[in-house]
Amino acid sequence: MAPGAPPLQPGPTVGVVGLGRIGTVFVEAIRRFAPEAAVVVAGRDQARTREAAALWPGVAVADLRGVAEAADMALLCVPPEAYRGAVFAMAPAMGPEVILVSVTNAVSLDDLGRWTRQPVVKIIPSPAHAAGRGACLVTPGPRAQAQHVERVTALLQRFSRPVLTDPADSRIASNLAGCAPAILGAFCGSFLEANAARAQVFSPAELRALITESVAALAALLDQGLTFEDVVARTATPGGTTEAAIRALMTQGPALCERMVDATFHREAQLLGIPPPRPDPAEPRAAARG
Ligand SMILES: NC(=O)c1ccc[n+]([C@@H]2O[C@H](COP(=O)([O-])OP(=O)(O)OC[C@H]3O[C@@H](n4cnc5c(N)ncnc54)[C@H](OP(=O)(O)O)[C@@H]3O)[C@@H](O)[C@H]2O)c1
Repeated sequence: MAPGAPPLQPGPTVGVVGLGRIGTVFVEAIRRFAPEAAVVVAGRDQARTREAAALWPGVAVADLRGVAEAADMALLCVPPEAYRGAVFAMAPAMGPEVILVSVTNAVSLDDLGRWTRQPVVKIIPSPAHAAGRGACLVTPGPRAQAQHVERVTALLQRFSRPVLTDPADSRIASNLAGCAPAILGAFCGSFLEANAARAQVFSPAELRALITESVAALAALLDQGLTFEDVVARTATPGGTTEAAIRALMTQGPALCERMVDATFHREAQLLGIPPPRPDPAEPRAAARG
């Protein structure tokens, strides 16, 4: 999906607190795909934040209070353990219509609702937004009304595919939207290494280019409407080498994926300080809230 939503009128002022991995993704996405929005950023180290902000035209730098005063919506792109302090520093300076946007499942919406009187919206982004791609999960939190969700969604539509997400499915949706690029990237890296270990003539860079092109080709085929299963069926000739590789993958792949999903549920429960979920694939899961 290429970003196609019309420019926002008027363009909002978006506050980005924390210019680490995901904060940087948002600034890049907004500058590239929503130039009508103003951006004001805050970080712990003002000099470093100014240096980082100088990479993009028209990005202002402020402290937490300055972001709270200037922004129409404030994206908290800091680690979960820094949320409480950041919200307490910003909340008194925020007007009643300023939307506090959480980008993490590891701070519960209930906690955020207790720490601030602002409307809260949770979004789970993907690093793909910097390229104008990726699903962004949107969950209304305390005091968020339809108009607040619409304002956040209108911005996200400029560089992503916003998907309204019920908290009950928040974890699995986050796995498939936010985590998947990294998980698929890690798999491709391992597959690349296993092949590179047997290379005789190709350089590592040439082999990397081959799998990179394959991933882009897969995305193009999916964009044309093919399913994963279609791609497998088109590629894996019965009795051939691809089929042999997929059969090897399938001996461990499904169990491995189940373990990976379990790991995400357990880690999220740890971060939220709630009991780990009991695995029972036969029953719909009672998902961690937040
Ligand atoms: N990375 C992703 O793809 C992704 C996806 C979905 C959600 N998230 C969520 O996004 C949040 C940030 O993750 P990240 O991967 O971007 O982490 P990160 O790369 O470590 O960046 C965190 C940023 O927050 C800043 N920071 C830390 N404490 C702060 C404070 N008290 N006040 C102001 N700034 C502070 C850090 O500043 P310093 O540079 O000074 O340390 C850093 O710039 C997390 O809550 C995570 O769950 C991330």
